[in-house]
Amino acid sequence: MNIPPEILRRIERLREEINYHNYLYYVFDQPTISDADYDALMHELKGLEARYPEAITPDSPTQRIGAPPSEKFASVPHSVPMLSLDDAFSQDEVFDFDRRAKRLLQTDGEIEYMVEPKMDGLAVELIYEKGRLVLGSTRGDGYTGEDVTANLRTIRSIPLRLMERYLPPPARLEVRGEVFINRDAFEQLNRKRVEKGAPAFANPRNAAAGSLRQLDPNVTASRPLNMFCYGIGVVEGYSFKTQWDVLTGLKKWGLNINPMIKKVRGIHGAIRYHQAIASKREGLNYEIDGIVIKVNDLQHQERLGSKARSPRWALAYKFEAVQVITRILDIQLSVGRTGAVTPVAIMEPVKVGGVLVSRATLHNEDEILRKDIRIGDWVMIRRAGDVIPEVVRPLSERRTGKERVFVMPETCPVCGSKLVRRPGEAVWRCPNPECFPRLVRQLTHFASKGAMDIEGFGPKLAEQLISAGLVRDVADLYSMELSDLFSLDRFAEKSAKNLISAIEASKETTLARFLYALGPRHVGEVTAQVLADRFGSIQALAEADEEGLRAVEGIGPEVASSIRSWFSNSQNSRLVRRLINAGIRFTDLKETKKLPLEGKSLVFTGGLSSLTREQAKDLVRGLGGQIVSTVGRKTDYVIVGKNPGSKLQKAINLGIPTLSEEEFLELIHHKLG
Ligand code: IVH
Repeated sequence: MNIPPEILRRIERLREEINYHNYLYYVFDQPTISDADYDALMHELKGLEARYPEAITPDSPTQRIGAPPSEKFASVPHSVPMLSLDDAFSQDEVFDFDRRAKRLLQTDGEIEYMVEPKMDGLAVELIYEKGRLVLGSTRGDGYTGEDVTANLRTIRSIPLRLMERYLPPPARLEVRGEVFINRDAFEQLNRKRVEKGAPAFANPRNAAAGSLRQLDPNVTASRPLNMFCYGIGVVEGYSFKTQWDVLTGLKKWGLNINPMIKKVRGIHGAIRYHQAIASKREGLNYEIDGIVIKVNDLQHQERLGSKARSPRWALAYKFEAVQVITRILDIQLSVGRTGAVTPVAIMEPVKVGGVLVSRATLHNEDEILRKDIRIGDWVMIRRAGDVIPEVVRPLSERRTGKERVFVMPETCPVCGSKLVRRPGEAVWRCPNPECFPRLVRQLTHFASKGAMDIEGFGPKLAEQLISAGLVRDVADLYSMELSDLFSLDRFAEKSAKNLISAIEASKETTLARFLYALGPRHVGEVTAQVLADRFGSIQALAEADEEGLRAVEGIGPEVASSIRSWFSNSQNSRLVRRLINAGIRFTDLKETKKLPLEGKSLVFTGGLSSLTREQAKDLVRGLGGQIVSTVGRKTDYVIVGKNPGSKLQKAINLGIPTLSEEEFLELIHHKLG
């Protein structure tokens, strides 16, 4: 069948648009269209391709998934070996590296380095020919890897076709980088697995490695993999001068690179970067285990050359090891806010990454069985993502035979109620809403900063109030009187008064805080805000059905069903009524979110280099700003590109702030952050 030329043009145009929006979303982190509009473009493309199957090309964005499972991965030799890196753990080793580089380059001057976070994922190579992704492989032993093209194609931050709008793609590009899973996506993935009864992954790295080496690409497609590119192999048809050039070039072709890369002068700059990144580490949405320091100039890299397994021009400056060995003295049970009964390892106290650790959650019974953790075991522990301590594995070779297998009791260790386990869930729960530790946690959560923000309220006080019989649920807090508190031990008049007035003050709150405070499962602060924005009142939310909830952007089936079942529980709706009757009121009902550039007017003059005017305009509009063509007193910023016109002079005359292209992009990133 002949395809009408206008259809072919439309197909091509749709692919270009989709690829571009993918780029804005995954690489630039700045989508300019809604998910629904993106889906509409995909839908139209799929429809046309279904009608004209001859028009389907392997690099069409519709073709990410669908390759059949393979029996075995084919071997792929790397044309340039994928080396590993020498490790350094101390400043002295870093200085040694710098001294050696200076000696070999015969220079006394400071070397310019590129510094990058060292991703904790796994290395892969992508090969693009004439801009098309033709092969993707794992690192393997550095010389030969495995062909995982079909799996890599499912990763949305990997372009199937290089972008051409900023820089024509080279004839051949071998690009290297790290595949990983973001922390939030990892947590969600594990939660879903545990709910399905599948074992949880120990950490994001294992999850990424396991996902990439699936024989069935459909499985890989269901895993939230991501990739940052950090280097190249053979490139034909383009030449770079520096590592910085390489990474900015890759970005222009639509490949994802870490936004925290930096150029520094001299090794001291690299050391400062290491410190800065170490302090940011916990807040990052991916795991890193150090930084990589690379000589920026590619000719210098060539002169320095490589040893057998690692280059002399690069060094991994690692963070302190965070895995240590200790012993499990006991496994105790802790009852959480939702009644979940969680086994907790009580360990001989030990320092991990500078913090003394003596307890670690073991998540649930299945997890203990899977890892085969026993009471009395020597275990390897680590602080996952540097925050929550985690038992990695038992050192079974150190067992004496005296270790005891943990058995989950059938009743709540605190109140004796029979524990229940819902179908599809791995956790056992205590069904008694008045179970002491559960109520303590509920009250503490309810009063916490992001929730009702009752000043001075903590777990100790919650325990005291419950024990005295003053509080049996959160609504009881609002019927307490000063005289009730006087009867309590060690409760002076002043602190009693403070507490009563803090409780009174908490009545004025926002709907989002209130929802979060009530604490239906899976409703964190962000979800609560989304729900409050969408439904506007507690009544509307209580009446929403699952479908209506799911229709809200950012609300998945899990959250929808959890909210639905929370509100359909009559005890809960009574609780809400009592709280409202106690005088809780919302101040946020009509508040609408302000966009970061709302009300700002911007003027462009001169040519931009890393994006077109149209794209810049899209970006500004997406953030609520306005682009105008003439500079006036009301102009907020003038963005000055190459060869600016008279608008620049006018801006200077009027004293209006001018931004270079780079500063403009920084401003936008800042506004987004
Ligand atoms: S450059 C020859 N840059 O670290 C230099 N590697 O120990 C090749 N890695 O296999 C590597 N982040 O998987 C480089 N920003 C980064 C990196 C990075 C993580 C990994 C990579 C490599 C291993 C070497």
